[in-house]
Amino acid sequence: KQIKIFSPATVANVSCGFDCLGFAVNNLGDTMTFTKTSNKGVKITGIKGANLPYDSEKNVASAVTLLMLEKHPVDFGIDISIEKGYAPGSGLGSSAASAAGAAFAINELLNRPFTQLELTKFAMYGEKIACGSAIADNVAAAIYGGFILVQQYEPLSIVKIPVPKELMLVAIHPQVKVRTKDAREVLPEKVLLTDAVTQWANVGGLISGLYSENYEVIANSLKDIIVEPVRKHLIPHFDLVKEVAINSGALSAGISGSGPTIFALCKGEEIAKNVYDAIENSYKDKGIDFTMVYSKINTEGV
Ligand code: HSE
Repeated sequence: KQIKIFSPATVANVSCGFDCLGFAVNNLGDTMTFTKTSNKGVKITGIKGANLPYDSEKNVASAVTLLMLEKHPVDFGIDISIEKGYAPGSGLGSSAASAAGAAFAINELLNRPFTQLELTKFAMYGEKIACGSAIADNVAAAIYGGFILVQQYEPLSIVKIPVPKELMLVAIHPQVKVRTKDAREVLPEKVLLTDAVTQWANVGGLISGLYSENYEVIANSLKDIIVEPVRKHLIPHFDLVKEVAINSGALSAGISGSGPTIFALCKGEEIAKNVYDAIENSYKDKGIDFTMVYSKINTEGV
């Protein structure tokens, strides 16, 4: 038996929701094939599109698989092949796509013994392997689809949030390296209470705006006064891209996960196309290679 799945890229943080909000992307992700074999053991048989480890303990997809099989032993083996649809280190949840894809597919091969919440926990182990912290924002978005809030870790609680129908993503990925680990080292240990109030008011506003499809409230709440100011210097021309995005009609823009991808959210396809063109035009003479995407929000997950 074999299963082939598509696991979406994800945007974590979504401005004000540092480490607790995320959403999934339609047009970008990993295609992965899982095949039952008669030889026991978990093997990575192919990786296309990125230079990732074949060692079963180190590759996030096989590491997640091994953990699941520890909890649910089987008398067969599993071969995994991965086609990365986009680059690791982009800030679009590349390791999360592989981890979430593995958790989902293995659950299918085992005849679904696990809940979505349990799959999220397995996939978080993949994040731990990839970046050192078992963060849930990207993996939960990839598994559940749409917008998710990681409401708490102990015990893990994921809240699914509706996606406004006309919401579109435009993202630009400057080809510079930002490691999540490094981007976490610049974070402040403490924040001012007044800043915290501003930030959590914006999280509340954003969630309310998503529920009520109130694009004005969404635009007004897509702000990050705590993390963006200390990370944006890692991303070339961040301020320019954000300004161009907003001036050409985006609701707002911010850093996708820990960067370097910059995301802009837009109402409707026409505006999203304008924003795409405007960002492309403003960036193309900057001497930095980049790729761009334009996508609906993925509402299904893996
Ligand atoms: N939320 C994390 C961060 C990255 O911004 O460091 C994605 O898990």
